[in-house]
Amino acid sequence: MNSHPNHIVIIMDGNGRWSKKRLMPRSVGHLMGASNLRSVVKSCVQKKVKHLTVFAFSTENWRRPPEEVATLFDLFVRYLKTEITELQSQGIRLRVIGDQSAFTPELQEQINLSQRLTANGTVLDLTVAINYGGRWDILQATRAWQNAHPYESLEQLTQEGLEPYLCTYPLPEPDLLIRTGGESRLSNFLIWQCAYTELYFSDVLWPEFDEHELQSAMDWYAQRVRRYGKTDEQIKASMSKKIESGKATGGVSPVTTASSLPSNSSSNGSNMATRPLFLK
Ligand code: FPP
Repeated sequence: MNSHPNHIVIIMDGNGRWSKKRLMPRSVGHLMGASNLRSVVKSCVQKKVKHLTVFAFSTENWRRPPEEVATLFDLFVRYLKTEITELQSQGIRLRVIGDQSAFTPELQEQINLSQRLTANGTVLDLTVAINYGGRWDILQATRAWQNAHPYESLEQLTQEGLEPYLCTYPLPEPDLLIRTGGESRLSNFLIWQCAYTELYFSDVLWPEFDEHELQSAMDWYAQRVRRYGKTDEQIKASMSKKIESGKATGGVSPVTTASSLPSNSSSNGSNMATRPLFLK
């Protein structure tokens, strides 16, 4: 069984329905969603979660009405401007992932500034995915790998070799994915990274997903047995061995961690400007 998720990822769904139920415009739901993100970040700090990654805008969300897209992007700029001091004072390191080439210069500048100002935070890594799609990520990583290895063929590319080029690098793989709002799908979020992640689907709409809901998700996670393709018996045997040798990890997953990845990678992905901040 697990004890504590080191990396939580959240698909924040249900802002629109939250506002519709109250006969309010969708923009109000998104505003409340942003405010709830602030509370959930605080709860993660209190609960000693080290990495939190949230899905704020997908590559498919451009299909929404233009006014809603504009509202969301205004909100992202405002969030970055207003939250930065608080994030800094709480020791939170902010990073934005996704294809930033379509962003306004104002948003790009604000992202760069926010990342620079919070770069020394060690309490929590907050990663916000904007204009992110899992398929896009895998494709950009493959292209970046090929650009960095012009004399190698794709036959030589391995799973471990690709990972430093994914835009989540060097975050550890997510332990727990939470999706609010009642849907049970990944919607192209971190599809590579979540291969072994525990998936928790909640009917609660995002603006109402509070610290108690977060705790329920974490309690549920604590009951899961992560087998990584092994049998129950193998897991039990390896846990007993660890306990005997005093090395029980409390469920820390045997996944790729930042420190186990190559440190000299570079990338031509479109979020390249943000990546050097995270290279060790
Ligand atoms: C999905 O709910 C939510 C989004 C597409 C936007 C997520 C944005 C926020 C939580 C607010 C801002 C975030 C930051 C980083 C400032 P939906 O609109 O699809 O809801 P519905 O399914 O009920 O219509």
